[in-house]
Amino acid sequence: MEITNVMEYEAIAKQKLPKMIYDYYASGAEDQWTLQENRNAFSRILFRPRILIDVSKIDLTTTVLGFKMSMPIMIAPTAMQKMAHPDGEYATARAASAAGTIMTLSSWATSSVEEVASTGPGIRFFQLYVHKDRNLVAQLVRRAERADFKAIALTVDTPRLGRREADIKNRFSLPPFLTLKNFEGLDLGKIDKTNDSGLASYVAGQIDRSLSWKDVKWLQTITKLPILLKGVLTAEDARLAIEAGAAGIIVSNHGARQLDYVPATIMALEEVVKAAQGQVPVFLDGGVRRGTDVFKALALGASGVFIGRPVVFSLAADGEAGVRKVLQILHDEFELTMALCGCRSLKEITRDHIVTEWDHCRRLPPLPSARL
Ligand code: GLV
Repeated sequence: MEITNVMEYEAIAKQKLPKMIYDYYASGAEDQWTLQENRNAFSRILFRPRILIDVSKIDLTTTVLGFKMSMPIMIAPTAMQKMAHPDGEYATARAASAAGTIMTLSSWATSSVEEVASTGPGIRFFQLYVHKDRNLVAQLVRRAERADFKAIALTVDTPRLGRREADIKNRFSLPPFLTLKNFEGLDLGKIDKTNDSGLASYVAGQIDRSLSWKDVKWLQTITKLPILLKGVLTAEDARLAIEAGAAGIIVSNHGARQLDYVPATIMALEEVVKAAQGQVPVFLDGGVRRGTDVFKALALGASGVFIGRPVVFSLAADGEAGVRKVLQILHDEFELTMALCGCRSLKEITRDHIVTEWDHCRRLPPLPSARL
């Protein structure tokens, strides 16, 4: 079947994958309100395209933390990719580097930082969960540095795991032939079957619930890598993130897998961008499935977006080729959106190229004088 948009991969993945695995990737927390909302909110933002602009040349390139990229679309960390396809994180790393973009490797990957580095050159970030055992965290960060990862994306929204009911019903556990490769040999590479979601039990046992702003400072004492805070949804926390020395902010609700009834990330973005006052770049993940979504995020001030589920679903469907295709489709759709909006470079994308529901309230035209 010819794939014409990235959402089509989800149906293929659902057919191909065992139910426990598909459910793990697909699920959101509790009522999954935020899961729907991450998508729906994009449809509340419409374009104000400009016409008769020469768009015969369009430049999608950008830099992220000083690294040159082909487009502002990057790969979010998603855990345990070898459950989707035997090549797992290797395939994702190769696809990202072929597309000239950044891959973020999950702490809970089924390939280690060294293994991913061995796939060849590429700009890579490392997503970090802070374990209770700080020596282990320091060791892992050092390994990521040595493997030439360029930044740490510190997940700040997971003191406990959100309640994903499908994982509880399925008694989710990591298939026995796989391990969390970054922790192999430390006796923490397995996610065993429990009476709950195995991952929720793992998090309860291993992850530090006491994580706080002082630990962001601590992290800076053990690494020179720039630290992005992933999971910021408010202006208040954006200010604190900057004060704590974050090099960037990722507006994220963890793919709607943590606290349900938080806003869609595209709804929270502008508040965070305003609070950041241009001091650090602000990125977004959550619900990005179309080039139009990427444009909307950039119009609201994002410096780039990350995609998560489209990667695991395309990986399940077609391995590295699937992930390459997802990146290509989003690239092409985004380029077309730019052309049809009259934007030739990312700098030309402005707030005036979109109109949101909340703008209508703000910008009511004055009443005509005849009716006064
Ligand atoms: C991992 O980060 C997950 O949300 O399952």
